Amino acid sequence: MNIIDYLRISLIDKCNFRCQYCMPEDQELNYLLAQDFLTKDELLILLKEVFVPLGFSKFRLTGGEPLLRPDLVDIVREINSLPATKDISLTTNGYLLAHQAQSLYDAGLKRINISLDSLHKNTFDQIIGNRGKSRWRQTWLGIEKAYEVGFNPLKLNVVIIPGVNDHEILDLAELTIYKNWHVRFIEFMPIGNAELFNQKAWIPSAEIREKIKEKWGLEESHVRGNGPADVFKIPRAKGTLGFISQMSECFCDRCNRVRLSADGWLRPCLLNETGQVNLKEALRRGENIDFVRQKVRDLLLLKPDINFKERDAGTNQSIYNRTMSQIGG
Ligand code: GTP
Ligand code: 5AD
Ligand code: SF4
Repeated sequence: MNIIDYLRISLIDKCNFRCQYCMPEDQELNYLLAQDFLTKDELLILLKEVFVPLGFSKFRLTGGEPLLRPDLVDIVREINSLPATKDISLTTNGYLLAHQAQSLYDAGLKRINISLDSLHKNTFDQIIGNRGKSRWRQTWLGIEKAYEVGFNPLKLNVVIIPGVNDHEILDLAELTIYKNWHVRFIEFMPIGNAELFNQKAWIPSAEIREKIKEKWGLEESHVRGNGPADVFKIPRAKGTLGFISQMSECFCDRCNRVRLSADGWLRPCLLNETGQVNLKEALRRGENIDFVRQKVRDLLLLKPDINFKERDAGTNQSIYNRTMSQIGG
């Protein structure tokens, strides 16, 4: 059985972008109210008393957009100061990063993943649902600042949507030749905007890899991170190319993670919420912490059977109604 030692913590369900594939503008979302959020103190109790004793040592902060959370820097500092923490990382859209990169780094964050689906401002704005002044440049500045401050590795997440940004595959891959950045192509998954997914479908990683290989050649790298990506490298490039291929090569069998939503739901799988438990409610009901820990232990035992493959086997369809921003990517 896999060791489950990686907790992805969504800090907020809101986002300052409305990406087409995640939370499109025309989709009405019921955002959480202030009292629904797991507070910093509640989160730390859960980490110290529940997750660390169960062997968790890797933590990723996500959203929505985690940089919108006012106490983000304090949360990073406190998680970083837990003796058990081996790794703390963050996934962001990068728009607010130029201003916050240094304080996050100083608080102990060293690893960051930033979404970047296009190098062209019009396509970028179209994907993120922006009709005002372009947001591309500020996002790019965020990426550059993160690199300058010292975040390493620095990973860029790209979701390729057929007919929208597939013409940029080579340009995005080319970034790795000159910069020590790690570009990861994520297969579009049926979560968030399932309608767009059904309309546009997805491009298999193998097809993207082939395109890149034809142009520059591609070496397999033996370094696989904590995550689901298969890693390759253009010969002599500074950075690497990762492929996250849930649709074409389901990686559930090597899954090492569970997810905690901003309102305290612990989910065994991104794409299947069977068995989820609300830890915030348990804390607020005054449940004994040993009881809460036992609940989590029980969920971890069930986890191998709750995954993407099982999702459509009739377990739970409500998944289609929750976006990545509500669950935490
Ligand atoms: P590191 O390797 O630790 O950097 O993490 P990561 O690749 O898991 O991090 P990131 O937050 O950048 O994840 C990128 C994307 O991969 C997510 O937004 C999802 O689209 C996808 N992904 C990550 N973990 C899972 C998972 O457990 N299941 C599925 N289906 N997709 C995942
Ligand atoms: N399919 C694949 N990846 C997605 N993301 C959001 N929605 C989807 C989806 N439907 C990714 C974003 C971001 C991360 C948090 O989740 O690209 O990098
Ligand atoms: Fe886009 Fe991430 Fe925001 Fe979703 S949470 S809309 S993927 S930036």
